[in-house]
Amino acid sequence: MLPVQPDRFLADLHALRGFGASGVGKGVIRPAFSDADIAARDWLAGRMEAAGLSPVFDPVGNLFGLAGGKSLLMGSHSDSQPEGGWLDGALGVIAALEVARAAQEAGGPPVSVVSFQDEEGRFGITTGSAIWSGDLPLSEADTLTDAGGMTFAEARAAMAARAGDWVAPGRFTGFIEMHIEQGPWLESAGEQVGVVTDIVGIRDMRIALEGQQNHAGTTPMHLRRDAFQGLSDLNTRLNARFADMVGDATVWTIGHVAVSPNASSIVPGRVTFSMQWRDGSADRLDRMEAAIRETAAEVAAARGLTLDFGAMRALAPTRMDDRLVAALSEGAEATAPGKWRKMPSGALHDAACLSRLMPAAMLFVPSIGGISHDFAEDTAEADLVAGLNVLARAVAQLA
Ligand code: GLV
Ligand code: MN
Ligand code: MN
Repeated sequence: MLPVQPDRFLADLHALRGFGASGVGKGVIRPAFSDADIAARDWLAGRMEAAGLSPVFDPVGNLFGLAGGKSLLMGSHSDSQPEGGWLDGALGVIAALEVARAAQEAGGPPVSVVSFQDEEGRFGITTGSAIWSGDLPLSEADTLTDAGGMTFAEARAAMAARAGDWVAPGRFTGFIEMHIEQGPWLESAGEQVGVVTDIVGIRDMRIALEGQQNHAGTTPMHLRRDAFQGLSDLNTRLNARFADMVGDATVWTIGHVAVSPNASSIVPGRVTFSMQWRDGSADRLDRMEAAIRETAAEVAAARGLTLDFGAMRALAPTRMDDRLVAALSEGAEATAPGKWRKMPSGALHDAACLSRLMPAAMLFVPSIGGISHDFAEDTAEADLVAGLNVLARAVAQLA
């Protein structure tokens, strides 16, 4: 087992949450390319250098801390949701830093560290690792916009002075990402560690419905072309239609809605919203997509609305690498005997993109109350350290 130091690991993890601290619990506000995100990346680059790694920013803000020669790559992301927890992504980056630092001190094996950019999807889905892995062409990524209309190209210009060249994936032998579970299963079973077998697939697109903006006092109900009523109708019809199409683990979310002009005395003329769905079966994702497109067209026709589908981002369901899963499983059994399980991930992770390039695997630790993407997100310190120890064992064993 590599000689990792839990105190040093926890100190760095708490230091990182100082960047973009929300002031509510341990929460953070550190979306990709925000001032807090860039400051955190600069701090991380310094910690990498102090650990004996060479920090490199690539053209899209991904930050690598490179060990010499061919190495294992470990990490996650340090950007957050608009209202994020302190561990989502940050845990995997700082655990990787501690493992790489301990490996440097022990004289090997070489471990490199990465913090990918925009995993949380201000612009896309796992944007930085999707570009780096070749899943998303840079020219296409540059046209993606955030909810306020800023393009990815404009956002990454804020880091242009730091940008070096692309890091060649061929210098890495595999990728391991530690992460919080972000769901209820480990905690409710009293377990400390999860070894991920699969990551679900996802589709995410923006949809717009346009009707006629009008006076909310004088426009009779039967003459209205109300875009918000269209969205409401679509949501009801889709929930009914999905009922006999989905499995226990299928999820779908309308998480971002912009009603225009968003005033109480105006019949809404336009509504744009996100439609996201996730499942472990690519075939089911296809069938849900067809249902969404058909149902939206039915609603638009019935209500005299025009319908516009924006670009859709998609990631296929992904299996983790058998050899890395076996190493993490042995580390889990040695660290938390009988208190770990193999499990799928319902959240999306950079490891899904990385598996296109190299063997990839993931390790989970429990989330208190199953809460994440919220300032209240947290994990017991003993579980954070248990996860670190599993990594330290697995990396030594793989070497
Ligand atoms: C990543 O945070 C996801 O949405 O699963
Ligand atoms: Mn994450
Ligand atoms: Mn997240």
